[in-house]
Amino acid sequence: MKKITAFFLALFLFALPLQADEGMWLPSLLKQLNEKDMQALGMQITAEDIYSLNGGSLKDAIVSFGGFCTASVISSQGLLLTNHHCGYSAIQSHSSLEHNYLEDGFWAGSPAEELPNPGLTATFLVRMEEVTQQVIQGFKRGMTAAERQSIIDQNIDRLLKETPHKAHEEVQIKPFFKGLQYYLLVTVTYRDVRLVGTPPESIGKFGADTDNWEWPRHTGDFSLFRIYAGPDNLPADYSPDNRPYQAPKHLRISLQGIKEGDFTLVFGYPARTNEYLPASGIKHILEVMDPVRVGVRDRSLALIGAAMRSNPIVKLKYASKFARIANGWKKWIGEMQGLKRSQAIAKRTQFELLFLERLQNNPSWQEIYGDLLPRFKVLYADLAPYERSKQYYTEFTGRNVDLLSYAGLFRRLLKIYRESGEKGFLEFKERLQPYLQKQYKNYFAEVDRKVFAALMEMYLNKVPENHLPKGLKEEWTQKQIEELSKKLYENSSFSTWETVEKLFELKPEELKKEIENDPAYLLFSRLAEAYEKQVQPKYQHIKEEIEELERSYLRGLITVFPKKKFYPDANGTLRVTYGQVRGYQPRDGVVYLSKTYLKGVMEKYKPGDYEFDVPKKLRELYRRKRYGRYGEGSRMPVCFLGTNHTTGGNSGSPVLDARGQLIGLNFDRVWEGTMSDIYYDGSICRNIMVDIRYVLFIIDRFAGASRLVEEMDIVAD
Ligand code: ARG
Ligand code: GLU
Repeated sequence: MKKITAFFLALFLFALPLQADEGMWLPSLLKQLNEKDMQALGMQITAEDIYSLNGGSLKDAIVSFGGFCTASVISSQGLLLTNHHCGYSAIQSHSSLEHNYLEDGFWAGSPAEELPNPGLTATFLVRMEEVTQQVIQGFKRGMTAAERQSIIDQNIDRLLKETPHKAHEEVQIKPFFKGLQYYLLVTVTYRDVRLVGTPPESIGKFGADTDNWEWPRHTGDFSLFRIYAGPDNLPADYSPDNRPYQAPKHLRISLQGIKEGDFTLVFGYPARTNEYLPASGIKHILEVMDPVRVGVRDRSLALIGAAMRSNPIVKLKYASKFARIANGWKKWIGEMQGLKRSQAIAKRTQFELLFLERLQNNPSWQEIYGDLLPRFKVLYADLAPYERSKQYYTEFTGRNVDLLSYAGLFRRLLKIYRESGEKGFLEFKERLQPYLQKQYKNYFAEVDRKVFAALMEMYLNKVPENHLPKGLKEEWTQKQIEELSKKLYENSSFSTWETVEKLFELKPEELKKEIENDPAYLLFSRLAEAYEKQVQPKYQHIKEEIEELERSYLRGLITVFPKKKFYPDANGTLRVTYGQVRGYQPRDGVVYLSKTYLKGVMEKYKPGDYEFDVPKKLRELYRRKRYGRYGEGSRMPVCFLGTNHTTGGNSGSPVLDARGQLIGLNFDRVWEGTMSDIYYDGSICRNIMVDIRYVLFIIDRFAGASRLVEEMDIVAD
């Protein structure tokens, strides 16, 4: 009976044409794996047009933006298009209450007015190449994991040294498929990236956190930057003498428009996914990880949100922090709901039956892979209590309470001093000081203290006694928390930038003494030491065993399903994902269309609201409805949906049409589908993009920045 079910399941799973939309594919393997599928979906260009070593392919117009987003080159003068939320902290850093670029937007009238952003980078991929054999060369049967790792490390070191590359290029080697494969990546990083233009938040972040992760969407989530280069057109540190990067390749922009079913290709830098988990691993995320992270953030967001609503200075200072904390929070809530709704655990379990069935028909497979799934189960059960404590610890000390994060950074400074003396100390200090100066611009001690007090209480209640510092619970009783936290913030040097700045003037020995007596440092150290002794080692140990199993499991899947095409989990490397413009059915009886229009912006308009206000100029443009070449007649398109498989890091990725021309800008996914990082369900997983025509309309008609439109390469037909 079981056999028959599995047989039909197999028919069902594999008789279907491969779901076109799932997968984040390697650009260098498109020809081999995807070109046919892509062309069947309507693509008119070739794999070689997308990725080629001979120069001039589309990949040469894509950059990793600051390492956290994607951007594309859209003019021969190094003009970069990315999301407003990717440029956010740069825009914020140039803003103040007097000239508030977040609120009013910013448009450089000439190159001289483009604003430098120290630390912001743009990285091109020159080439990638598989080097698995070279990396694992020397493996012998029966080696321990540690022995194998040491061979891998040595081989990688050697390869990095031996690989020929130009002086301005960097070489790195990264694991793919959980370490079953390795790739060598040659990159070039530009270090002078300037802000060129951004719409006001009421366009670029329209709908803010309420609309974030949701459809229907009406956000003009874009901003413009420019790469600057030295006299030789090569990367250079910021200098007023740098010139706009002369781009050998830029994207052409199509105004032809988009309709349901059209081919879409998203080309960018997805950061991390986990698509090959066993059912027990999905359960772990759903029941252990996500609830903790969401629970902590529920509390901190309520407090920060209240403070922002009651004070405009707090609102400006905390805008970016709030958006960051809320972004993860809302995504994880969507992830939990999506995993439940799509019955991910049950379906993955069914799939595992099929896997087991195949093992049973092959004794040698059975021998190698037969006990994997039960072992996962045991390990995840062991991991759960440590995971909970780890998540509480990270959220409390590293993500939501600034005072503790700052104390943590100083603890690191002291550790470096201990381990590598004055030289290491000075090096780290050099980076720490400007970083903290920027952080403190957006710090408000009283808001932070409230968050601290609430999360301290939660920490002491939720983390099991044996994972807590000894005596902490007795000291910080519920009654005392308010008073103790006030004292803590009054007496710690980390409460104001002025006192932190003074610390930086001290000699290492003096600084050490000063910090070691700081109450916030002392508290953080107690928390950290307890975590590092009572949680971290055990967590690490179990996690490593799980990773070892994951590698075997993935090898098993590839062996047992030889006809299935596998794509590696996202790991911050350049990927292609393709699909189609497509609406969806979020729940019974409801259908979402695939496109939104400016009309919808006006429907959401709430005068004076911090999320749904609309600038006067845009309201006027809407009234006149003269959209010219950017409109669909009397309608102005704003956003659209696709079936492209994307994740964090894909923000700012260009969306290309069947001819490889730019039609949009990726910026989000729909809430019902955020579980696609773990479990992709083609019926409800959608990515959200801004229509390029809206981007151009805003630049041209709203901002009047015609000099920028002129330098672009717009294809009219
Ligand atoms: N959800 C999008 C992403 O993950 C946009 C986030 C920025 N916007 C916001 N309102 N927080 O990055
Ligand atoms: N907004 C996300 C980012 O910053 C992209 C949305 C997603 O996670 O798919 O990369």
